[in-house]
This record gives sequence, structure tokens and C-alpha cells, in this order.
Amino acid sequence: MNTLRYIIQPVSAELEQVERNLSVQISRIADGHAVTNTYSRLADRVVGHLFKTHGKRLRPLLFLLSARSAGVGSLKGTDALIQVGTSVELIHSASLIHDDVIDEATFRRDRVSVNERYGNKIAVLAGDILYTQFYSLVSTLADLPAEVRLRLLELFTTVTRRMCFGEIYEERMRRQRKPPEFEDYLDTIDNKTASLMAVCCEAGGVVAGAPEETVETLRLYGYHLGMAYQLLDDLDDGDAVYPDNSRIGESAARHVRSAMETAAELPENEATTRLRAIVDAVGGARIPLAASQTA
Ligand code: FPP
Ligand code: MG
Repeated sequence: MNTLRYIIQPVSAELEQVERNLSVQISRIADGHAVTNTYSRLADRVVGHLFKTHGKRLRPLLFLLSARSAGVGSLKGTDALIQVGTSVELIHSASLIHDDVIDEATFRRDRVSVNERYGNKIAVLAGDILYTQFYSLVSTLADLPAEVRLRLLELFTTVTRRMCFGEIYEERMRRQRKPPEFEDYLDTIDNKTASLMAVCCEAGGVVAGAPEETVETLRLYGYHLGMAYQLLDDLDDGDAVYPDNSRIGESAARHVRSAMETAAELPENEATTRLRAIVDAVGGARIPLAASQTA
């Protein structure tokens, strides 16, 4: 089994449901609004454009795995998990559409971007529609207690603001003539990328009704994964804002080695066997690259 399938396996059924629900939500986006208006067909097409190609669905996956690891308990048999999993993908999609406007990107997921196809003005509005769909979904979730719904709304509102801050910092860094300080770069990717992954994991714990200590552990996991994800994304893209490749390569190699050593020392059980397989697959693929950069 490839590594990704291995990671997805515990929640693969839920992830498929999220996928189906995304299509339903996108097709319903104009419900109750101007359905008789001939322009609404254009609105549907614009909002659906990004979904014509498949994303990784990493944020719903993080949410579902976190909820599962925290014990979904009373949520079993309800559609709350699927609806929240769907809505985190809606926020992420909105942010990508806006990001492509900011970056003046012409392609996304090997397809022409929304801004390139329909122009910046319509792209910004399509992102806004997707973003508000998140609130419609979460605020009407009857299966979740009101206080959980409110907490989710608060978490995702705050994180959207942080993502906007991250994008503003990045824009400032790009306009400077010198490369950014490493700490400023890390702060930027924390806000723009890691914060959302952290909240997806945190939300999994919250929805599952996990103790606060577990919720915090899940949040930290999402944060570290998000930081690593954006570092690698920038490294692979050869991103211009990237401050110092060799320093990052060195530090990444150290972390991968330490993760492999820690995983090797854990007690034997089914969970650690899975964990080791994942750490070895990821570390094994990355460590020669990182090690060669330290030489
Ligand atoms: C991709 O970065 C972009 C992000 C991780 C966040 C973008 C966030 C916003 C535009 C603000 C959020 C706004 C709303 C309404 C939710 P990248 O350019 O490094 O990655 P890429 O290579 O995928 O473009
Ligand atoms: Mg971009």
C-alpha cells in the first residue's frame, strides 16, 4: 500500500463522503439566490471551477483523523463530521482562489486559475461565496451542541484573519530588496499555512468532545505539520521569499533523523507499526536530499 493510502485508511469512508458532499454543496451554492437569473449559471460555474480538478483534501483529512484519534463517540452515525470536513475544504478553497489573485497565478492544480479564466473581480467574489458557505454549513449543524458550533465559528474566524495577516507579511517580504530574516519567514508561514492546519486538527478534538489537553496536542501536531508542509512547498517551488535553503535543509535533516530515532524507540503496538512505516517512508525519501545539502 502506498504511504498516503496507509495514512488515509482509518477515515477513507468519511473522506469519500466529504468528497460527495463537496459536490452537493457546490451545486447548491446558488440555492435561494437569483435562481431564475440567467447570470446565476455563470456564478455556479465560477464557484465550481476550482473543484473540476481534485485537490489533496489534506485539511478535511487532518480534521477527520484528529476527530477519529480523539474518539468520535456520540457523533457516530451523525453527519456532523462530514459537514465540518466539507466546510474546512471550502475555507481552504476560498483562500486558494484569493491567493491566486494576489500571486497573479495563471494555473492551479494543472488547470487555468479562476482569476485567469474569469478575471480578478469575479475571482475575489467567488472566493467570498465559498467562504460564506463555511458559515452556513457550520452554523446550521443540528448534530452539534450550540457551544461546539460557536467554538468552531470562533476558531475558523480567527484563523482566517491570521491567514490574511500571513499574506500581508509575505507581500511585505516580497517588496523588500533583501531576503527576510528567518524568524520573520517562519512567522509568515505559521500565519498563512500552519495556522489553518493547526485549527483543522484542533477542531477534530473539539468536535469529538476530547479533553482540552488532547485538543491542544492535536493543535500542536497540525501546527508542526503545517510548518513542515510550507517549508517543503517553498523549497520545491524555489520560492523567492525563501531565506536560506542550506540552513533549512540542515535543520530538516536533523528533525527527520530525530523523528526516525524516536519512532524506533516506541513500544510495539499496531499504532506504532503504522507510525514507523509512515515516518520511514517520508524520512527515507527526504533524508538524502537534506543530508546532501549539509555536506
Ligand atoms: C498559498 O500559499 C496560500 C495560503 C496558504 C493562504 C492564503 C490565504 C489568504 C489569501 C487569506 C484567506 C482568505 C479567505 C477568504 C479564506 P502559496 O502561494 O505559497 O502556495 P501555492 O503555491 O499553493 O500558491
Ligand atoms: Mg500562491
